[in-house]
Amino acid sequence: MRKIGLIGMGNVGATIAYTLVTKGLADELVMIDKNEKKVVAEQLDLQDSLGRLDSNTTIKIQDYSELKDADILIITAGKVAAMGSGADGRMGELSFNKMVVADMAPQIKASGFNGIIISIMNPCDCMTQYLQEQLDYPRNKIFGTGTFLDTARMQKVVGQSFGVSANNVSGYALGEHGASQFTAWSTVQVNGVPIRTLQHSHNVDLDKFEEAIRLGGVMVFEGKGYTNFAVATCAVKLAMAVFSDAKLACPVSAYSDAYKVYIGQPAIIGKNGIESLTQIALTADEEQKMKASADIILEKVETLRH
Ligand code: 2OP
Repeated sequence: MRKIGLIGMGNVGATIAYTLVTKGLADELVMIDKNEKKVVAEQLDLQDSLGRLDSNTTIKIQDYSELKDADILIITAGKVAAMGSGADGRMGELSFNKMVVADMAPQIKASGFNGIIISIMNPCDCMTQYLQEQLDYPRNKIFGTGTFLDTARMQKVVGQSFGVSANNVSGYALGEHGASQFTAWSTVQVNGVPIRTLQHSHNVDLDKFEEAIRLGGVMVFEGKGYTNFAVATCAVKLAMAVFSDAKLACPVSAYSDAYKVYIGQPAIIGKNGIESLTQIALTADEEQKMKASADIILEKVETLRH
């Protein structure tokens, strides 16, 4: 029995629920939201689709106690980051989402849930850490989607420029899921060839790419007022890696002993959540960007603690 809890039924939560139900990825789904009317409607709408699907999902709502035997909990609750006018407003939701965590953490705790938590709330690294601290949860069992999403944007930007599919681009966007993120170009390969060796023959400007990656969410936000499909895809992929013990190598927001913060870094995702962290060799410049990003996250985490 594969059971998933989903807290937050806004655009991201609804997209995750739709994906799980239509692809038959969970046997039981528990959906929780402050807006009772909305979550009832989402339940009805999803149940109405079951007669056209090849799989069945039992969909329950609004009951924290149902999380007790859930395997995975995906958290998308909170305010949508206001990311208009070319600016990344993810940090702007810090104080509101702190209240959301303060409200939900005791209820998660009381439910007896002890599975894997995938957190999407923004600012992702700060909120994942705050939630971990509020729940006093094992660090390997809670992680954030973090720069898994920015890495997908990097794969798109690079892939489009080289005329290859995003799947044929590998490497990592790292650091904060926010303004101080960076692409570790030393890790990026196109069809297995390091981008650094292709850069000059193809006349590509990595700084321009970096800007497009960093502002990828902003561009979507400016058109529709939220982002949902890409981050939902990341969350579902991570949930499937947990269910299938895939030992998926990808960057997520995981706790760093070195920096004492949750930050986007390469990890292995399996049935225990973060199975391990992958130590990759970064250049001195990349290491410095990682530290700068960690400092920004830590400063905000400190404000959450007080
Ligand atoms: C995104 O990057 C808003 O963090 C969200 O799509």
